[in-house]
Amino acid sequence: MSKVETIIVHGGEKPDPITGAVAPPLIRTKTFKQPEFGKKAEWEYGRAQNPTRHILEEKLAAIEGGGKAVAFSSGLAAETMLFLTLEAGDHLILPKEVYGGTIRLLNNVFSKYGITYTQVDFSSKQEIRKAITPRTKYFFIEALTNPSLTPIDLKSLQDLSKETGIPVAADMTFCPPCCTRAFDYNADIIIQSISKYLSGHNDVLGGALITKDLALYERLKLLQKAVGAVLSPDECYRAIQGIKTLSIRWQRMSESALKIAQFLESHSKIKKVLYPGLENHKGHEIAKNQMRNGFGGVVSFELISSTHEKLKQFVDKIQENGIIIYGESLASPETLLAYPYTMSHGALPAEVKEKLGITRSFFRLSIGLENADDLIKELEAGLEIYS
Ligand SMILES: Cc1ncc(COP(=O)(O)O)c(C=O)c1O
Repeated sequence: MSKVETIIVHGGEKPDPITGAVAPPLIRTKTFKQPEFGKKAEWEYGRAQNPTRHILEEKLAAIEGGGKAVAFSSGLAAETMLFLTLEAGDHLILPKEVYGGTIRLLNNVFSKYGITYTQVDFSSKQEIRKAITPRTKYFFIEALTNPSLTPIDLKSLQDLSKETGIPVAADMTFCPPCCTRAFDYNADIIIQSISKYLSGHNDVLGGALITKDLALYERLKLLQKAVGAVLSPDECYRAIQGIKTLSIRWQRMSESALKIAQFLESHSKIKKVLYPGLENHKGHEIAKNQMRNGFGGVVSFELISSTHEKLKQFVDKIQENGIIIYGESLASPETLLAYPYTMSHGALPAEVKEKLGITRSFFRLSIGLENADDLIKELEAGLEIYS
């Protein structure tokens, strides 16, 4: 079987049989002419099926190493569809640190339908075991938690899943398949926010669920048609094209991020740096075992204690040359400086954020494809406001 880098380019696609076109077809039609009265056709209506979306779904399954994929209009829409397969009274176990949008979705939407959850420290099997109830339906994890970038030990979780019979739902947004394939650890369902590394160019908002469980897949296909939170053909097209350069983007971002993490670590105005590629990061050994081709483009750091005014000066200064952009999200060609306190984790209560180390002086950098030395110059200039 081909290596993942090759599948990332060719998986799920072949040149058009009539014209030989190499780029995928972008088919925007909403409806399809039905070939014959009384007969069910493969293509009927855009909410249920679309050929460009079909290629993307085939590609997503191929790059994850099997199964079937279902694409939705965002990563959170994908999570929503997974939660819609649960019944009132069902329970989830999540890591203490998880994307704030997931918690917002569970607290503000699914709590009304009787879905409950417990957050535990996933480095302790004992804690996870204690949280299990007869209604626990998934260990719902992020392979690299955000924003402390702590890897969850997938091998250890696989053993626990086998022992307890509780399936693993793995959000692999921070670890795309050129880095980690969750099916290698028997994950039952993979969640991807296509908006990040997969599409990679800040121009797609999308999500997907990938599973080898065919009954679950059929249920998700039904939800795709019934709920209708589908990804548009244009975004599917851009996602397919974006995925093809995933491996080189990942590798380049990882190289630059390591260099930048080392620079930040040595800077006197930085209180702490979190990057799984740093030897002193608490999850470095696990990251080394389960992440390939680098540790990704995201580096989190905390500045020395700062006032609101100082933080504002830092953010203004860092953007002065238009190279680093203050904004949410990650994994785009442009380097982004995010502020988890009000952005990705803004939905969490202040005391929870403090406990997770998401203080007011905490930032998350998503390293883009610029020259790493240029980025270091911008960071140096930003940090000069403290001298
Ligand atoms: C780990 C993780 N999962 C899911 C999502 C949601 O993805 P989307 O923004 O595509 O809805 C995000 C968004 O930042 C994320 O970081």
